[in-house]
Amino acid sequence: MSGDESTMAGRIVAVTGGGSGIGAACAEVIASRGAIVAVLDINVDQASIVAARIGGMAFPLDVSDEQNVVSAMTMVERQLGPIAAGVTAAGIVQAPDPPDELDMAVYDRIYTINHRGTYLSLREIARHMLPRRKGSLVAISSVTARRSTPLHAYGPGKAAVTNLVAGLACEWGRAGLRVNAVEPGYTRTPALQAQIDLGNRDVALMEENSALGRLIEPAEIGAAVAFLLSDDASAVTGLSMAVDAGFYGAGSWAPYGGVRKH
Ligand SMILES: NC(=O)c1ccc[n+]([C@@H]2O[C@H](COP(=O)([O-])OP(=O)(O)OC[C@H]3O[C@@H](n4cnc5c(N)ncnc54)[C@H](O)[C@@H]3O)[C@@H](O)[C@H]2O)c1
Repeated sequence: MSGDESTMAGRIVAVTGGGSGIGAACAEVIASRGAIVAVLDINVDQASIVAARIGGMAFPLDVSDEQNVVSAMTMVERQLGPIAAGVTAAGIVQAPDPPDELDMAVYDRIYTINHRGTYLSLREIARHMLPRRKGSLVAISSVTARRSTPLHAYGPGKAAVTNLVAGLACEWGRAGLRVNAVEPGYTRTPALQAQIDLGNRDVALMEENSALGRLIEPAEIGAAVAFLLSDDASAVTGLSMAVDAGFYGAGSWAPYGGVRKH
């Protein structure tokens, strides 16, 4: 098997949160490998811009609304045909509020979109794939899944996504479906930029706390997602793969003066 476009050519791929950032980059990379991409987003104007750029089709989707997720995936199949693969990148970020200042409405919204919305999206895409006994799914988790941060709703919600893909991989593996996740480190997207602009993230510190000494480009997440979706990863399932510029590794270097500079 090859990593060239033949592994994705002509396949219909549904990407939630495809209107911006990591989702848009996933849509672009996957389309560049020959797939036909359904770009699903609550911001349908943004989804339409991405879809036009990559020759895909835009669909409105609100992952916080169960019925909306059900009808959106049915609509994708009706308009484009059988979904061969899915990426769940719809999500929202969080300010680093201490627990006593974290509004429970914000907490609920983060869980509803990032965890419940991921679950619903995977479930609905899988519902279409299961009778065909073939399909591949990738959820976007985060490095906050495995390291504590002051993001007390976002981080545990991402840990739940990492746990979820392992469970769903076992649930559906014998039915021919693979389910994986990517855990991105700090990735240059509009959502991260907004947090930087608000003073909630420090670029120099994010760069310092990585082996590579830099942030990640959305297309680098897209490339990892495309690998996991493709037949090149035919024996990979239940995995959450870090694409973190070495964030996990670098964390324990601080007492030694940080990662070695060359
Ligand atoms: N940027 C990072 O550093 C980073 C790191 C780790 C994980 N992530 C994760 O990557 C995913 C994408 O984040 P991003 O940084 O690209 O953000 P982004 O804001 O650029 O893109 C997120 C997209 O999701 C859409 N969306 C939000 N709520 C939705 C809903 N209810 N229904 C459907 N679509 C909805 C938005 O409209 C937007 O187009 C998120 O799950 C985020 O948690 C990002």
